[in-house]
Amino acid sequence: MKITVVGSGNVGATAANVLATKGFASEVVLIDIKEGLSEGKAMDIMQTAHMLNFDTKVVGVTSPIDNPNYEATAGSQVVIITSGIPRKPGMSREDLIGVNAKIVGGVVDQVLKYSPDAILIIISNPMDAMTYLTLKNSKLPRNRVLGQGGMLDSSRFRYYLAEALKEAGYPASVTDVDGMVVGGHSDKTMVPLVSLATYRGIPVTQLLSAEAITKAVEATKVGGATLTKLLGTSAWYAPGAAAAAMVEAIALDAKKLVPCCVYLEGEYGEDGLCIGVPVILGKDGMEKIVEVQFSDEEKAKFAESVAAARETNSKIGDALK
Ligand code: 2OP
Repeated sequence: MKITVVGSGNVGATAANVLATKGFASEVVLIDIKEGLSEGKAMDIMQTAHMLNFDTKVVGVTSPIDNPNYEATAGSQVVIITSGIPRKPGMSREDLIGVNAKIVGGVVDQVLKYSPDAILIIISNPMDAMTYLTLKNSKLPRNRVLGQGGMLDSSRFRYYLAEALKEAGYPASVTDVDGMVVGGHSDKTMVPLVSLATYRGIPVTQLLSAEAITKAVEATKVGGATLTKLLGTSAWYAPGAAAAAMVEAIALDAKKLVPCCVYLEGEYGEDGLCIGVPVILGKDGMEKIVEVQFSDEEKAKFAESVAAARETNSKIGDALK
């Protein structure tokens, strides 16, 4: 399998690094507009190959804005798009829409020119709107245009639930905690599904107080903003690993149940937008949307999230062809 990662910043380089160490890909191409950045990151990753024992070839390419150079990406089966500017402390993901819509629009054209059959994974923010823009402009079938948000937000939810369990006297391993986040990848409107969260099959509602659960939910929602404040720019280890995990599910045809941002056509009573819902990921990308039962409160929150995503989509403007 050949994979391209567009954008060799923190998130893109982390995704490439995780993909290389997983070892299922024959080649990972890193591409960026900044002269030498991709080549440097690729070389640095390749110099870990012996120590980390992988055979994946990581290649770096510079592609200037005024003279795109995507030939080396040709024939990629999956392309991760991280292009655009990240947020700074105090910014919302939605603040990035004007700049990033133009960048992502241009990147997708180049990617599909050389890899017309690729499955696209969008990370650029505001991610739900960028996924919608990509789907509309590319006219690709919806199974091939996925946004990465739910994988990351669910991982943050599990982390905060594990912390809450620890405080409640159950020193839980994060990998024993299960939880899913749906809705938009947005500080205000993501929807951690408390009703389905478990600790080794035990509903967390049996072990945690309502107050502790609310704290974990609220921490999850602002998980990205918390890290942006600490780091001065947006996070990269978990976002990069989340993208790599999605590629792995596709590459191995693993049929993993993962919340991803996809285009809805009536599922969950909604259509005409991209938003996070549980899907099965396999070799064809999104192979099925799984409709699970939300509590009444979660249903209301999901509806608010849909309304907010529609509002952001309405601001994409002339980047939409
Ligand atoms: C985050 O939540 C980058 O949006 C990403 O950290």
